[in-house]
Amino acid sequence: MQHSKTTLAAVFFGLSVTLLSGCDILNNSAQPTPKPATEANQTPTVPPSSSQETPSSQTPAAPDAEQPSTTIEPTPATPQPSANEPKEVDGDPDSLSILVNKQYKLPDHFKPADLVDPNVPFIFKGKSEKRMMRKEAAEALEKMFAGAKKDGIQLAGVSAYRSEATQRVLFENYVKKDGEEAARKYSALPGTSEHETGLAIDVSGSTGACAAQDCFGDTKEAAWLAKHAAEYGFIIRYPEGKDSITGYQYEPWHLRYVGNQIAGEISGKNITLEEYLNAVPATASAN
Ligand code: DAL
Ligand code: ZN
Repeated sequence: MQHSKTTLAAVFFGLSVTLLSGCDILNNSAQPTPKPATEANQTPTVPPSSSQETPSSQTPAAPDAEQPSTTIEPTPATPQPSANEPKEVDGDPDSLSILVNKQYKLPDHFKPADLVDPNVPFIFKGKSEKRMMRKEAAEALEKMFAGAKKDGIQLAGVSAYRSEATQRVLFENYVKKDGEEAARKYSALPGTSEHETGLAIDVSGSTGACAAQDCFGDTKEAAWLAKHAAEYGFIIRYPEGKDSITGYQYEPWHLRYVGNQIAGEISGKNITLEEYLNAVPATASAN
C-alpha cells in the first residue's frame, strides 16, 4: 500500500515537471514569442539557442531532483540587430563606390577628410558646410557646371555636404512636419545620408526655382543632368520608379559622385547603385 502511494506521487511529480518544462515561464528567454507574419517579415527570428537545438537539455529532471528548474536553465539568446536597423557600411566609407542607404550607415560621426569648396554658384550666399564636397567630386562638379554652361544650362548648387548632426536636425524637422513614415520616403536617417559622404549634391537651375522639389523633374536643367551627369562621374541616385530598390522616391536633383567608369555603367544600363553592387534592395527589410 505504502509502495503504491509512493509510485503514484512519483508519477504525479514527473508529470508536473514535464508540463512545466514545456511552458514559457521556463523557456522565456530561449524561445521568443512567435510574431504575426507581417512583423516577422521585418524582424529576424532569434536563432535557436543550444537548448532548443538539443531537446535533451530540456528533458524533465528526475522526480527525485530537488530543484528541477536548475537543470533546464535556458541559454541566453545572443542579441540580434533588428532588420530595420542599418548595419555599418560594407567597405571603406571613403571609397567612391561606397553604398550608403537605408541598410548601410556610416561610422558614427564620420567626416570625410578632404572636403573642399567647389568653385560653382550656389542658390544661397555666404560660407557654409553645405557648399563642400570631397576634392575629386568637387573638381568633377566644376567641370560638369562648365559643360552645362557651354550647352546654355546654368546650374547651381543647393546642398552638398552635411554632417551627421545637420542631417539629424533636417530629418527631425521633416518628421515634425510630415510624420515619420512620410519623412523616411524622402529624407535619410542621420548616419545614412549620402550627403554625409561628401560625394552627393542637390542641384537646381541658377534661379533656384523648384530646388529639391518634384517640379525640378520638368526643367531643362533636370533633362540636361539626366543626359550628361554620367559623363562627369555623377549618377541620378534616386531614379524614377526605383523607390523599392533605393528606398527613396524620385529625386532628379540628387547627384552622387561615383567616378566616370561606374557612372557610365550605371547610366548605360539604367540601373541603381544597389543593382550595380548586387546589393539587396534598400527596402527589402527597411522602410
Ligand atoms: N534626400 C536624401 C535621401 C537624403 O536625405 O540624403
Ligand atoms: Zn540630396
